[in-house]
Amino acid sequence: MTHIAVLGSTNMDLVTYVAKAPQRGETVTGREFRTIPGGKGANQAVAAAHAGADVTLIGAVGVDSFGPQLRSALEHSGVDTDHLRTTEGPSGTAHIVVDDEGGNAIVVIPGANGTVDHLAPGDEGLITTADALLLQLEIPLAAVVAGAEAARRHGVRTLLTPSPAQPLPSQLLASIDLLVPNEYEAAALTGTPDPREAATALLDLVPEVVVTLGAAGSLYAARGAAPLTVPAPRVSAVDSTGAGDTFVGTLAVALAEGRPMPEALAWASAAAALSVQRIGATSSMPYRSEIDAEASSHAHHAQS
Ligand code: RIB
Ligand code: NA
Repeated sequence: MTHIAVLGSTNMDLVTYVAKAPQRGETVTGREFRTIPGGKGANQAVAAAHAGADVTLIGAVGVDSFGPQLRSALEHSGVDTDHLRTTEGPSGTAHIVVDDEGGNAIVVIPGANGTVDHLAPGDEGLITTADALLLQLEIPLAAVVAGAEAARRHGVRTLLTPSPAQPLPSQLLASIDLLVPNEYEAAALTGTPDPREAATALLDLVPEVVVTLGAAGSLYAARGAAPLTVPAPRVSAVDSTGAGDTFVGTLAVALAEGRPMPEALAWASAAAALSVQRIGATSSMPYRSEIDAEASSHAHHAQS
């Protein structure tokens, strides 16, 4: 089995379902409220575990009632939590409004994730033995950099989801193999709204880029090769929360298994398409057999 290490956040998602998100000053009545384990790090870990990898999450939860719930939900999904610390104060929370089109708006309160500003003893050893390290930006940048550099020293492939969008120091980018922004993050990083142009611009910073395009699939660019677009299965979205994380976690597994990029992207798109048809982040992530079935029922043809 492949082994994936994830260094990142764990949040309890406090999700409100409403026809249309309220504007400032407006009060609306929603349909439903749910608490669902999430956080970009935990989401990518669960997606990779469901897709069939051995996964360890490095991060932290708090001493509130969410802490043990988040930890046990991860364990239930098959994620190793030996490197998940418990720190003083509350767990991370994400306050999410999901509308009738499946779109969302999110406020994240870091809580315990904010204490993950360095690698703890043993974390580097874990990263060293992994086939890939997955990184996002919901923990302090210092730890993301330390993780990426540890992986790079040991020749471990690094994937960075630059979310929430923020300027990326060149010290971090120097240790990233594959950058996976969505189209908004790609635009924010480059100042270019066109995903194809943005991807090309990002190749000055990292060797490989995948821009996720939501319902339109994904765009892959690598130095010295023509960009490749892989369409996504057409589905109707109920809740797109965590779809990008599902995509990345699944993609990482396929790549760690040595599958070619077009096939890996189609597999990841199938997983993301399944996840948007179900409620929540980790609660919506498909298992390997479901991903296989979805991927083979859609004859994806990569186009340039
Ligand atoms: O990427 C989706 C995630 O963003 C949610 O699960 C929420 O926790 C926020 O971190
Ligand atoms: Na979902």
